[in-house]
Amino acid sequence: MSSENSSTNQALHLTQRPRRLRRTATLRKMVRETILTVDDLIYPMFVMEGESTKIEIVSMPGCYRYSLDLLLEEIAAVSQLGINAIALFPVIPEEQKDDTATESYNSEGLVQETVKAIKNAVPEIIIITDVALDPFTTHSHDGLVDENGKILNDQTIEVLVKMALSQAEAGADFVAPSDMMDGRIGAIRQALDAEGYINVGILAYSAKYASAYYGPFRDALDSAPKFGDKKTYQMDAANAKEALKEIELDIAEGADMIMVKPALAYLDIICQVKAATNLPVAAYNVSGEYAMIKAAAQHGWIDEKKVILETLTSMKRAGADLILTYFAKEVALMLM
Ligand code: PBG
Repeated sequence: MSSENSSTNQALHLTQRPRRLRRTATLRKMVRETILTVDDLIYPMFVMEGESTKIEIVSMPGCYRYSLDLLLEEIAAVSQLGINAIALFPVIPEEQKDDTATESYNSEGLVQETVKAIKNAVPEIIIITDVALDPFTTHSHDGLVDENGKILNDQTIEVLVKMALSQAEAGADFVAPSDMMDGRIGAIRQALDAEGYINVGILAYSAKYASAYYGPFRDALDSAPKFGDKKTYQMDAANAKEALKEIELDIAEGADMIMVKPALAYLDIICQVKAATNLPVAAYNVSGEYAMIKAAAQHGWIDEKKVILETLTSMKRAGADLILTYFAKEVALMLM
């Protein structure tokens, strides 16, 4: 008897043959451990002032800064694709920036007006707003800076609290502090509760590394630091235990979900963080990770779709429950 499934008389007597489960596509599907779905995806989007314009971000092909009207159209399309949530980032005109980020908590500012408009136009989409000063400061640091260039932790938190409150007031579902100041989660939670926003959640960028992978995003927002770097607040790429310390603190202070950022070079961190908490864990597939795949694909050097799916699946396999990714739309289409 000889068929594809039968052995020849030369067969070794192996008790285990793992390849049995890989023999056909159906079998592989049956034993697949990790399934990426559209429900895992959060789409980061950039809003700018103006009307009827969108500008492609050079280092992030396929990603745009949208004026509000076009952003609303795009969000309607994104929602139609089944994507549940967006993370909103503003491009602030230079003349609205100052040293203390006052525009960040303007109740009629770009972010606040955008949130109100989205809630009105596409009420079902979950809106996550970024809480950090960098889009609003002339120096482009995430915090307030003293005359010696030092980042002031506690003074920064006062501004972050005002910013988070104004976003909650506008209708944000989650505020997402990405600044890495100490104690900000607790301060924001207390302030939200004190003002009655008990149902506004906090997605904490808990383990956010000082990473070179943010380059294209800083192009998108014109937010590269004007002096120094972010290493006194964002984490050292060499550290893992420190990530566990940060998530422990953020959970104790009231985070609802926690994030590891970037994702691809930090899959071990995602894995450890997942093991250390029962909260949902998000991973941020950041701008540089997106740009690398796009650039290689544009050269025809990789199979773009396969690489995107393999990359996001690896993040989920590592333990991410949610993935912030600029590929969200493309992936939603691929998964249909
Ligand atoms: C800033 C912020 C950054 C990103 C999200 N929020 C950049 C930075 O810390 O300089 C990066 C996102 C990306 O690279 O895709 N608070």
